[in-house]
Amino acid sequence: MQTTSPAVSKTDALTSEVMQSFAHATDPRLAQVMGLLAKHLHAFVVESKLTKEEWLRGLTFLTASAAITSEERNEFSLFSDIMGISSMVDVVSQPEGGTPSSVLGPFHNHDSRLRANGSDLTEGQAGDRVWFHGRVVDADGQPIQNAQIDFWQNADNGLYPAQDPDQDPHNLRCKIACEANGSFNLLTIRPHPYTVPTDGPVGALLAASQRNIWRPAHYHVIVSASGYVGLVTELFPEGSAYLTEDTVFGVRPGLVVDFKPCHDAAVAQRFGIATPFLEMSFEFCLAKQG
Ligand SMILES: [Fe+2]
Repeated sequence: MQTTSPAVSKTDALTSEVMQSFAHATDPRLAQVMGLLAKHLHAFVVESKLTKEEWLRGLTFLTASAAITSEERNEFSLFSDIMGISSMVDVVSQPEGGTPSSVLGPFHNHDSRLRANGSDLTEGQAGDRVWFHGRVVDADGQPIQNAQIDFWQNADNGLYPAQDPDQDPHNLRCKIACEANGSFNLLTIRPHPYTVPTDGPVGALLAASQRNIWRPAHYHVIVSASGYVGLVTELFPEGSAYLTEDTVFGVRPGLVVDFKPCHDAAVAQRFGIATPFLEMSFEFCLAKQG
């Protein structure tokens, strides 16, 4: 005769009871998501044999995360990033056939200015000059008309404007309306690796876990076009440090790009720079809205 362990049946019964408690939510999706969250959190407690002390420590971590969270700083978002949850949401929500998405990060600004295609964002600041150009196309490789690029990155000192009072708040970020053939280009500088904030509970967790705190150098890009699924992604220069150990797990195949020396005299003259400069080319592919 088959017997059931009383301990197992007790945990199963509790899990079922909690899942059932969400079953009548007015939004069926809320019922589904909360039921599954309860199911998997319970399984985690059971499998890890979580002690009361460890559970209290977890609550203390969440309380400390809330205390340090502000308009400019979200420790829960950072926790999601370093646990790979943000990246897992990217991966499971990725439409078929488009350029891979990657994490948004904490430094995006909605108020970036629309600048002319071909703009020079460098404005005399330090940094290796990079001519970034490319196209926005659909799944068939056809150019998308009326696409827009929203671009931002850190400066030569590794800091974003929000971290550096010496930078103009609009430094090294802009929106560009692409040409009818999907093309865009701009002059910018090489981005640099940087660390995630380490002065909060997430930093303490990373230290206790002996984990890397660095992100590889990257450009942030949001690509949008009417009728297509918007793309939030990052481009990583080939050879950057930390490419294989990004602490927020944002590096995906297809998003690591070559920076090549370029000797194009016409481009150099247009931007008033010396040759060779660096060139980076990328084709963003957007999936059609369903
Ligand atoms: Fe970033």
